[in-house]
Amino acid sequence: MEFFDTHSHYNDEAYIEDREEIINEIYNAGITKTVVVGYNEDKSEKAIELAEEHQFIYASVGIHPSDIGANKEEILSQIKKIRQMASNKKVVAIGEIGLDYHWEKENKELQKFAFIQQICLANELKLPIIIHSRDAIMDTIEIIRGEDSPKFSGILHCCVLNKELIETGLKAGLYISFAGPITFKNTKNKELINIIPDDRLLIETDCPYLSPEPNRGKRNDSRNIRFTAEKIAELKGMTVDEIAMITYKNAEKVYNI
Ligand code: NI
Repeated sequence: MEFFDTHSHYNDEAYIEDREEIINEIYNAGITKTVVVGYNEDKSEKAIELAEEHQFIYASVGIHPSDIGANKEEILSQIKKIRQMASNKKVVAIGEIGLDYHWEKENKELQKFAFIQQICLANELKLPIIIHSRDAIMDTIEIIRGEDSPKFSGILHCCVLNKELIETGLKAGLYISFAGPITFKNTKNKELINIIPDDRLLIETDCPYLSPEPNRGKRNDSRNIRFTAEKIAELKGMTVDEIAMITYKNAEKVYNI
Protein backbone atom coordinates (compact mmCIF):
# COMPACT_ATOMS: atom_id res chain seq x y z
CA MET A 1 0.00 0.00 0.00
CA GLU A 2 1.29 3.44 -0.92
CA PHE A 3 0.26 6.81 0.47
CA PHE A 4 0.58 10.39 -0.75
CA ASP A 5 0.88 12.68 2.29
CA THR A 6 -0.42 15.90 0.73
CA HIS A 7 0.75 18.18 3.54
CA SER A 8 3.86 17.74 5.69
CA HIS A 9 6.36 20.07 7.33
CA TYR A 10 9.72 18.28 7.28
CA ASN A 11 11.08 21.82 6.96
CA ASP A 12 10.14 22.37 10.62
CA GLU A 13 12.55 22.64 13.58
CA ALA A 14 10.84 19.64 15.16
CA TYR A 15 12.97 17.45 12.85
CA ILE A 16 16.26 19.21 13.37
CA GLU A 17 17.93 16.20 14.98
CA ASP A 18 16.72 13.33 12.81
CA ARG A 19 15.31 14.83 9.60
CA GLU A 20 17.13 12.56 7.12
CA GLU A 21 16.40 9.47 9.18
CA ILE A 22 12.66 10.18 9.32
CA ILE A 23 12.52 11.02 5.62
CA ASN A 24 14.09 7.66 4.77
CA GLU A 25 11.84 5.82 7.19
CA ILE A 26 8.60 7.27 5.84
CA TYR A 27 9.59 6.37 2.29
CA ASN A 28 10.40 2.82 3.33
CA ALA A 29 7.05 2.65 5.13
CA GLY A 30 5.18 3.31 1.88
CA ILE A 31 4.74 7.08 1.88
CA THR A 32 6.04 7.37 -1.66
CA LYS A 33 5.07 11.00 -2.23
CA THR A 34 4.66 14.05 -0.02
CA VAL A 35 4.50 17.80 -0.43
CA VAL A 36 6.55 19.69 2.15
CA VAL A 37 4.57 22.87 2.73
CA GLY A 38 6.18 26.26 3.29
CA TYR A 39 4.70 28.87 5.62
CA ASN A 40 7.19 31.75 5.46
CA GLU A 41 10.21 32.67 3.35
CA ASP A 42 12.72 30.56 5.28
CA LYS A 43 10.57 27.46 5.47
CA SER A 44 9.58 27.75 1.83
CA GLU A 45 13.27 27.79 0.93
CA LYS A 46 13.85 24.77 3.16
CA ALA A 47 10.94 22.94 1.49
CA ILE A 48 12.59 23.46 -1.90
CA GLU A 49 15.93 22.28 -0.55
CA LEU A 50 14.36 19.02 0.68
CA ALA A 51 12.52 18.55 -2.61
CA GLU A 52 15.77 18.94 -4.52
CA GLU A 53 17.49 16.36 -2.33
CA HIS A 54 14.71 13.74 -2.42
CA GLN A 55 12.97 12.61 -5.55
CA PHE A 56 9.71 11.67 -3.78
CA ILE A 57 9.39 15.06 -2.05
CA TYR A 58 7.73 18.10 -3.66
CA ALA A 59 7.49 21.62 -2.27
CA SER A 60 4.97 24.40 -1.85
CA VAL A 61 5.87 28.01 -1.14
CA GLY A 62 3.81 30.68 0.57
CA ILE A 63 3.25 32.95 3.56
CA HIS A 64 0.93 31.63 6.28
CA PRO A 65 -1.46 34.23 7.82
CA SER A 66 0.50 34.09 11.10
CA ASP A 67 3.74 34.93 9.25
CA ILE A 68 2.68 37.92 7.14
CA GLY A 69 4.43 41.29 7.39
CA ALA A 70 3.17 44.21 9.45
CA ASN A 71 2.01 46.27 6.47
CA LYS A 72 1.26 45.97 2.75
CA GLU A 73 4.79 46.88 1.64
CA GLU A 74 6.29 44.14 3.77
CA ILE A 75 3.76 41.63 2.51
CA LEU A 76 4.43 42.55 -1.13
CA SER A 77 8.14 42.11 -0.61
CA GLN A 78 7.54 38.67 0.97
CA ILE A 79 5.40 37.68 -2.01
CA LYS A 80 8.07 38.89 -4.40
CA LYS A 81 10.44 36.34 -2.90
CA ILE A 82 7.76 33.63 -3.02
CA ARG A 83 7.31 34.40 -6.71
CA GLN A 84 11.03 33.87 -7.34
CA MET A 85 11.05 30.58 -5.43
CA ALA A 86 7.96 29.34 -7.27
CA SER A 87 9.92 29.08 -10.51
CA ASN A 88 11.71 26.01 -9.12
CA LYS A 89 10.55 22.88 -10.94
CA LYS A 90 9.65 21.00 -7.78
CA VAL A 91 7.30 23.68 -6.52
CA VAL A 92 3.80 22.32 -7.10
CA ALA A 93 1.61 24.80 -5.18
CA ILE A 94 1.35 28.15 -3.45
CA GLY A 95 0.72 27.61 0.26
CA GLU A 96 -0.02 27.47 2.88
CA ILE A 97 -1.98 30.69 2.66
CA GLY A 98 -5.28 31.85 4.10
CA LEU A 99 -6.85 33.32 7.20
CA ASP A 100 -6.29 32.59 10.87
CA TYR A 101 -8.42 34.56 13.32
CA HIS A 102 -7.68 32.12 16.13
CA TRP A 103 -4.10 33.26 16.72
CA GLU A 104 -4.26 36.68 15.03
CA LYS A 105 -7.35 38.85 15.21
CA GLU A 106 -5.91 42.34 14.97
CA ASN A 107 -4.85 42.26 11.33
CA LYS A 108 -7.81 40.77 9.49
CA GLU A 109 -7.59 43.23 6.59
CA LEU A 110 -3.88 42.53 6.10
CA GLN A 111 -4.50 38.79 6.23
CA LYS A 112 -7.13 39.11 3.51
CA PHE A 113 -4.76 41.24 1.45
CA ALA A 114 -1.96 38.65 1.71
CA PHE A 115 -4.35 35.80 0.95
CA ILE A 116 -5.78 37.46 -2.16
CA GLN A 117 -2.36 38.58 -3.41
CA GLN A 118 -1.10 35.01 -3.16
CA ILE A 119 -4.16 33.58 -4.89
CA CYS A 120 -3.46 36.02 -7.74
CA LEU A 121 0.16 34.86 -7.83
CA ALA A 122 -0.97 31.22 -8.04
CA ASN A 123 -3.41 32.08 -10.81
CA GLU A 124 -0.70 33.87 -12.73
CA LEU A 125 1.71 30.92 -12.33
CA LYS A 126 -1.07 28.40 -13.02
CA LEU A 127 -0.53 26.68 -9.67
CA PRO A 128 -3.04 25.30 -7.14
CA ILE A 129 -3.22 26.82 -3.66
CA ILE A 130 -3.17 25.25 -0.19
CA ILE A 131 -5.65 27.01 2.08
CA HIS A 132 -5.36 27.34 5.84
CA SER A 133 -8.55 28.64 7.43
CA ARG A 134 -9.12 28.84 11.16
CA ASP A 135 -12.00 30.65 12.87
CA ALA A 136 -12.49 32.51 9.60
CA ILE A 137 -15.08 30.50 7.71
CA MET A 138 -17.21 33.40 6.44
CA ASP A 139 -14.29 35.47 5.14
CA THR A 140 -12.70 32.39 3.54
CA ILE A 141 -15.97 31.64 1.75
CA GLU A 142 -16.26 35.23 0.58
CA ILE A 143 -12.77 35.19 -0.91
CA ILE A 144 -13.16 31.79 -2.59
CA ARG A 145 -16.41 33.03 -4.15
CA GLY A 146 -15.02 36.44 -5.05
CA GLU A 147 -13.42 37.72 -8.23
CA ASP A 148 -9.95 36.61 -7.14
CA SER A 149 -10.95 33.00 -6.68
CA PRO A 150 -8.40 30.24 -7.30
CA LYS A 151 -8.36 29.33 -11.01
CA PHE A 152 -6.08 26.28 -10.91
CA SER A 153 -7.69 24.35 -8.11
CA GLY A 154 -6.37 23.92 -4.62
CA ILE A 155 -6.86 22.25 -1.29
CA LEU A 156 -8.83 23.11 1.82
CA HIS A 157 -6.26 21.73 4.21
CA CYS A 158 -7.33 20.31 7.53
CA CYS A 159 -9.70 23.19 8.08
CA VAL A 160 -12.37 23.26 10.71
CA LEU A 161 -15.01 22.63 8.13
CA ASN A 162 -18.65 23.40 7.88
CA LYS A 163 -21.10 22.44 5.18
CA GLU A 164 -21.10 25.82 3.51
CA LEU A 165 -17.30 25.98 3.31
CA ILE A 166 -17.13 22.49 1.81
CA GLU A 167 -19.83 23.27 -0.73
CA THR A 168 -18.17 26.55 -1.67
CA GLY A 169 -14.82 24.77 -2.02
CA LEU A 170 -16.22 21.95 -4.12
CA LYS A 171 -17.98 24.42 -6.38
CA ALA A 172 -14.69 26.28 -6.86
CA GLY A 173 -13.01 23.02 -7.88
CA LEU A 174 -11.11 22.56 -4.62
CA TYR A 175 -10.12 19.31 -2.90
CA ILE A 176 -10.72 18.64 0.79
CA SER A 177 -7.87 17.19 2.83
CA PHE A 178 -8.29 15.38 6.15
CA ALA A 179 -5.66 14.95 8.85
CA GLY A 180 -5.36 13.35 12.29
CA PRO A 181 -8.28 15.17 13.99
CA ILE A 182 -10.76 12.98 12.09
CA THR A 183 -9.66 10.20 14.47
CA PHE A 184 -10.45 12.25 17.59
CA LYS A 185 -13.55 11.40 19.59
CA ASN A 186 -15.25 14.78 19.42
CA THR A 187 -14.46 15.87 15.89
CA LYS A 188 -17.30 17.47 13.95
CA ASN A 189 -15.82 16.58 10.59
CA LYS A 190 -17.04 12.98 10.81
CA GLU A 191 -20.54 13.77 9.54
CA LEU A 192 -19.17 16.02 6.83
CA ILE A 193 -16.93 13.48 5.15
CA ASN A 194 -19.80 11.84 3.32
CA ILE A 195 -20.72 14.99 1.39
CA ILE A 196 -17.30 14.96 -0.27
CA PRO A 197 -17.17 13.06 -3.53
CA ASP A 198 -14.43 10.42 -3.76
CA ASP A 199 -12.64 12.33 -6.51
CA ARG A 200 -12.11 15.38 -4.24
CA LEU A 201 -10.86 13.62 -1.15
CA LEU A 202 -7.26 13.89 0.13
CA ILE A 203 -5.37 12.83 3.23
CA GLU A 204 -2.43 14.44 5.00
CA THR A 205 -0.60 14.48 8.31
CA ASP A 206 0.30 18.19 8.73
CA CYS A 207 3.22 16.71 10.66
CA PRO A 208 4.85 17.46 13.10
CA TYR A 209 1.41 18.61 14.31
CA LEU A 210 -1.95 16.87 14.70
CA SER A 211 -0.95 13.27 15.41
CA PRO A 212 -3.95 11.00 15.04
CA GLU A 213 -5.14 8.57 17.69
CA PRO A 214 -3.52 6.46 19.11
CA ASN A 215 -0.47 8.75 18.93
CA ARG A 216 -2.23 12.00 19.78
CA GLY A 217 0.06 14.51 21.48
CA LYS A 218 3.30 13.01 20.17
CA ARG A 219 5.41 14.40 17.32
CA ASN A 220 3.73 13.36 14.10
CA ASP A 221 5.23 11.96 10.91
CA SER A 222 3.80 10.58 7.67
CA ARG A 223 3.68 6.98 8.88
CA ASN A 224 0.68 7.96 11.02
CA ILE A 225 -1.32 8.67 7.87
CA ARG A 226 -2.50 5.05 8.09
CA PHE A 227 -4.64 5.81 11.15
CA THR A 228 -6.35 8.68 9.34
CA ALA A 229 -6.91 6.49 6.28
CA GLU A 230 -8.34 3.70 8.44
CA LYS A 231 -10.81 6.08 10.07
CA ILE A 232 -11.92 7.52 6.74
CA ALA A 233 -12.30 4.02 5.30
CA GLU A 234 -14.50 3.12 8.26
CA LEU A 235 -16.65 6.26 7.91
CA LYS A 236 -17.08 5.82 4.16
CA GLY A 237 -17.55 2.05 4.24
CA MET A 238 -14.50 1.44 2.06
CA THR A 239 -11.22 -0.43 2.48
CA VAL A 240 -7.99 1.28 3.51
CA ASP A 241 -6.51 0.15 0.20
CA GLU A 242 -9.22 1.97 -1.70
CA ILE A 243 -8.75 5.15 0.34
CA ALA A 244 -4.97 4.99 -0.23
CA MET A 245 -5.41 4.55 -3.97
CA ILE A 246 -8.14 7.15 -4.47
CA THR A 247 -6.38 9.82 -2.44
CA TYR A 248 -3.04 9.10 -4.14
CA LYS A 249 -4.56 9.62 -7.55
CA ASN A 250 -6.40 12.76 -6.46
CA ALA A 251 -3.20 14.23 -5.00
CA GLU A 252 -1.29 13.64 -8.23
CA LYS A 253 -4.07 15.35 -10.08
CA VAL A 254 -4.39 18.47 -7.93
CA TYR A 255 -0.60 18.94 -7.78
CA ASN A 256 -0.07 18.05 -11.46
CA ILE A 257 2.57 15.44 -10.64
NI1 NI B 1 0.36 22.98 7.75
